Amino acid sequence: MHLKLDISNALSPPAALDGIPPSTLTELQPKLTEAIERLKQQRQQGNAPFLDLPDDKETIELCRNAATRSKNFENFVLAGIGGSALGPYALFRGLAHPFHNLLDASRRQAPRFFVLDNIDPDTIDALFDLIDPARTLFNIISKSGSTAETAAASLVIIDALKKSVGKKWKEHIVVTTDPEKGDLRQLVREENLEALPIPPSVGGRFSLLTPVGLFPAFCLGLDVDNLLLGAKAMADVCLKAGPRENPAVLFAALLYAFDTQCSRPIQVMMAYADRLLPLADWWRQLWAESLGKRLSTDGKEIFVGPTPVKALGATDQHSQVQLYIEGPQDKVFIFLEVQEFERDVPLPSAFGHLSSLEYLGGKTMNRLMAVECSATREALTKAKRPNMTLKFPKVTAAALGEAFMLLEIATIYAGALYNVNPLDQPGVEHGKILTYKAMGRKGYDD
Ligand code: PA5
Repeated sequence: MHLKLDISNALSPPAALDGIPPSTLTELQPKLTEAIERLKQQRQQGNAPFLDLPDDKETIELCRNAATRSKNFENFVLAGIGGSALGPYALFRGLAHPFHNLLDASRRQAPRFFVLDNIDPDTIDALFDLIDPARTLFNIISKSGSTAETAAASLVIIDALKKSVGKKWKEHIVVTTDPEKGDLRQLVREENLEALPIPPSVGGRFSLLTPVGLFPAFCLGLDVDNLLLGAKAMADVCLKAGPRENPAVLFAALLYAFDTQCSRPIQVMMAYADRLLPLADWWRQLWAESLGKRLSTDGKEIFVGPTPVKALGATDQHSQVQLYIEGPQDKVFIFLEVQEFERDVPLPSAFGHLSSLEYLGGKTMNRLMAVECSATREALTKAKRPNMTLKFPKVTAAALGEAFMLLEIATIYAGALYNVNPLDQPGVEHGKILTYKAMGRKGYDD
């Protein structure tokens, strides 16, 4: 296992800290043991299929093979939203060169990567200032096949392709959608488009290890094999370990207890690495959409759910940390800390007469980042702000695979504690229906 979850600053004592007493974990233990057993059963019954995605050799090979032709393209544009975009982007940012799109093609060794996950007309239109559709592969991703934002982007994309390459437009599209259902699947059949399946039983925000994430990852030359190995290893740990040694259980239980028993509903995931900020963004959706619910599993109105927030160290030390240290005692913090960065940046000794530069000389940027992370953590702890740290020895494909799986399983365990269904999202339906109605979609006029 690469990742380590350090919860020492989330438990009390230390005396300074407003943490969770160990007895709380003991009280939650029966519920958590039941949640682990239930997840094992659900897995056996095929109701938690995201757990077994790392073993789905057939789909993995399908994606690997489909990706071989991406070498012919200068650009790869992903059109999708929510669970159909955040995971692939987190993976790309986690593993690719930080300035991938600006590298020469020979250094990049993969297409440039763009994500269209919004319907801002300025952004969508401006993308076509940068890319030539004739040299672009478009991956349209929608599990339901009917999401308005992705449907609108598809219309723009297909139109641009038809104007650019005429009848060959179909050679520039790969659709990722449900294997049977939905309008996008119907379009695939009617137009004979290349398509990859999203297993019907895997929900959008749990779909990273389906073709949703795997196809773009293969196209971008990312290390999918180790990503899957990491995810599989973490799934095993989080299903086999007892509540006290199980990182997904501890993550879920502590955050649940801080929210429901300590009035700390705001949960800030603060990444001390640019590469990991999109992971925090992905988690924010996973946690919010899965746990923010009106109804309990037995149909009672309970209106529960924590509020996940993402932050970036060290940048947000100069934006948010004042609030975090001195503001209301309503937050808990999850640091994402990297112990070894891919590169070392020494700080040259210069201008020794200026004290604000002198002390930095001879150190490294790496050390400064590590020190700032520790200093913020210590300052929060001293100010009685509980926190935990997910430690990445390095940001590798395996470590990211572990992180994605850890947070997905933690979401299921948190769902059990909140007594909600973490796999549905009824609250977003109303807005969708009103949009369809206002835009004149057939069947939605009343
Ligand atoms: O997690 C979810 O289910 C959602 O965030 C979806 O991923 C999002 O709404 C996009 O849905 P679709 O892939 O059907 O277009």
